[in-house]
Amino acid sequence: MRVAVLNGPNLNLLGEREPSLYGTTTLAELEAEVRAAAGRLGVELLWMQTNHEGALVEAVQGLRGAADGAVVNPAAWTHTSVALRDAFLAVGVPFVEVHLSNIHAREPFRRRSLLADLAVGVVAGLGPAGYRFALEGLVAHLRGR
Ligand code: DQA
Repeated sequence: MRVAVLNGPNLNLLGEREPSLYGTTTLAELEAEVRAAAGRLGVELLWMQTNHEGALVEAVQGLRGAADGAVVNPAAWTHTSVALRDAFLAVGVPFVEVHLSNIHAREPFRRRSLLADLAVGVVAGLGPAGYRFALEGLVAHLRGR
């Protein structure tokens, strides 16, 4: 089984970016944790982060045939990107949406996700561990089908 983890804009700054909200774990440390979890689950992991919306849209388009499912932190594009939503609709690959922070406890504009209703599930507010929970939930979903 192969799972892609897709990270949107500004997540390359994890660890130094608003640590009171997003914690002090860097993206590289987070990737290592998620890779270890994938290893325990016997899942092959693809990992990417981009600050370019089109690159994420192309990554989602490329999921078909390349991954069984995805864990996605779309970051700011969660709240704005119809293009990203359309890409997920086009490929139909199951995904879990993850957020480090609890987007429902922040500014009103963050409470709306343009992807959440397409997702298998959503994990928000549990920090870096949320990525592992999202991966475990996705894998359980894929194995249960
Ligand atoms: C985020 C929440 C988004 O609202 C924000 O734009 C981010 C990170 C999170 O992981 O908590 O960049 O997706």
